[in-house]
Amino acid sequence: MVAVASLGLLGCGSEKDTPANKDPVATTAAPRDAGAVAIDAAAPARKVFLHGAGRCGECHEKMFDEWETSAHARAATSPLFKAASASAHETTCARCHTPLAADAPKDMITTEGVTCDVCHTLREPKPAKTGAGFRLAIDDMVKFGPRCNLDDHYFHRMGCSPEHQQAELCGSCHWWEPRGVPVFTEYADWKAGPAAAANQPCQDCHMPKEKAPLAVGAPVRTGVPHHGMLGLAADLRARALGLAVSVKDEAGTLAVTVALTNAGAGHFVPSGLPERRVVVVARVVDPAGAELAVERRSLGRVLVDAKGAEVPFWRAIKVGSDSRIAPGATWSETFSFTPPGAGVVEIEVLYRSASETLTRELALPEVESERMTGAKVPFGGPGTGGRAKLPKTVTVKPPVAKKRPAKQGPAKQGK
Ligand code: HEC
Ligand code: HEC
Ligand code: HEC
Ligand code: HEC
Ligand code: HEC
Repeated sequence: MVAVASLGLLGCGSEKDTPANKDPVATTAAPRDAGAVAIDAAAPARKVFLHGAGRCGECHEKMFDEWETSAHARAATSPLFKAASASAHETTCARCHTPLAADAPKDMITTEGVTCDVCHTLREPKPAKTGAGFRLAIDDMVKFGPRCNLDDHYFHRMGCSPEHQQAELCGSCHWWEPRGVPVFTEYADWKAGPAAAANQPCQDCHMPKEKAPLAVGAPVRTGVPHHGMLGLAADLRARALGLAVSVKDEAGTLAVTVALTNAGAGHFVPSGLPERRVVVVARVVDPAGAELAVERRSLGRVLVDAKGAEVPFWRAIKVGSDSRIAPGATWSETFSFTPPGAGVVEIEVLYRSASETLTRELALPEVESERMTGAKVPFGGPGTGGRAKLPKTVTVKPPVAKKRPAKQGPAKQGK
């Protein structure tokens, strides 16, 4: 749950309808004492209104619990980012990973990366190749969100921002092509693809809606967005790809054709960091399960230096190769095996958070690896037909969206 650092304010939604809080004087005056941070040496007159996510979470428990598990909460602290930014020696990284670093006390919001007060003060999002086209309205105690009919609260006033339901809000960080090298292109890819044409912004897939109160003690509302960014059950990655595996017997050789279709994403798969990889592992095992042969193919965008060698994006000058799968498109390749007798073809499709080259370069001990999809096709001895007659095709559709894990249960009802 929420780490409660009491700053002397009372509860959450429960007081919001008392006459004192309805009083316009009280609503504008109260935030000035509401734990806002006064900064600083360079501009002594400037006052900024920033809070750690834990403070927001005292009232917005649901959003906090979801955000805490998201990559946004780790934007400043993930081992991969820390190693990368140390290697890159660039200050530009902070613009998207710790946008509040210049304004917030070091021990507070900086470590929270893309925290509540980044997105909920974010104004005028303008996605561009140059990246980070936005302004943060931190000079006032207004929190911007998608609803335009909420009553102000004593803790913060409500800002009306239809942009919060538009792809441009996300695109202001999720697009960056420094020195002409495409690094983060989710927004540009989305914009050029079928999801944008169908009016389906990032939030449709990444922030699915539920019925819940916006704040503890506030009324239950519909259309409340999940803040985990990978679906209600964090299963978006497992819903990205459709798979078809065809196994043929060609004169004693098994020809295994693997077709992967990007059925679920509004952009290329993999996307995001250029070093993300989708790894297709094709394995043949004997009837007892012992591995007879294995082959791998790695899909992704490979950025290279002047000599054509794969290098991390901050040293790259151009794209060397690109085998990402466009939305709706299918990637297909055939593997050949010559097993001695009957067995099973096992296909596993994995998401790898960093390529082997980057992992080695940054001396990372291990990277996140996740199963996206897979299939098993039993076959008889080559040339014999056997227990499973060839040719044979197994198709795995992307699973439907899962509900949130039962453990967390439905949100508490407000009065
Ligand atoms: C003391 C309680 C409290 C705290 C702390 C709090 N909020 Fe709120 N917030 C509310 C209430 C109450 C609502 C309105 C709920 C309703 O009417 O359904 C709200 C609404 C919102 C909205 C919706 C605005 C809109 O127009 O759509 C956003 C966004 C928001 N808060 C962000 C934040 C952020 C960011 C923080 C931390 C800096 C924060 N809140 C801290 C009580 C709080
Ligand atoms: C202020 C910049 C910023 C904004 C605005 C922003 N993001 Fe992000 N996002 C990031 C950064 C930085 C990361 C990488 C964090 C990490 O892994 O270190 C990230 C990571 C992600 C991930 C990866 C999730 C995972 O678990 O790997 C998704 C999905 C995502 N963002 C979606 C969105 C969506 C949807 C929006 C708009 C509603 C959005 N982002 C707005 C900066 C931003
Ligand atoms: C990466 C950006 C991002 C971060 C970080 C983020 N939010 Fe949000 N939040 C959004 C967007 C976008 C919406 C509106 C999405 C929609 O309606 O489709 C939203 C909606 C909300 C709402 C209003 C929900 C409604 O139904 O009106 C509240 C309250 C809220 N966020 C609180 C928080 C709190 C508290 C945190 C930190 C724990 C947080 N948010 C972190 C982007 C963000
Ligand atoms: C039609 C649904 C859909 C839309 C629209 C969509 N996404 Fe995604 N997104 C997905 C799926 C499915 C995945 C998981 C597959 C993957 O990792 O590539 C994903 C993955 C991601 C990732 C993680 C990349 C990685 O591999 O770590 C980021 C970042 C992201 N999306 C950002 C965005 C942004 C920004 C937008 C809007 C400009 C957007 N997405 C629009 C479905 C969608
Ligand atoms: C214009 C905004 C922007 C800038 C500038 C930026 N990033 Fe990012 N970064 C992102 C986004 C958005 C993601 C999420 C993509 C994803 O999840 O694959 C991300 C993800 C990452 C990741 C993956 C983190 C993880 O934990 O998986 C690394 C590493 C990274 N960035 C390194 C850097 C470095 C190093 C710099 C500076 C040289 C930098 N970034 C500058 C927006 C930015």
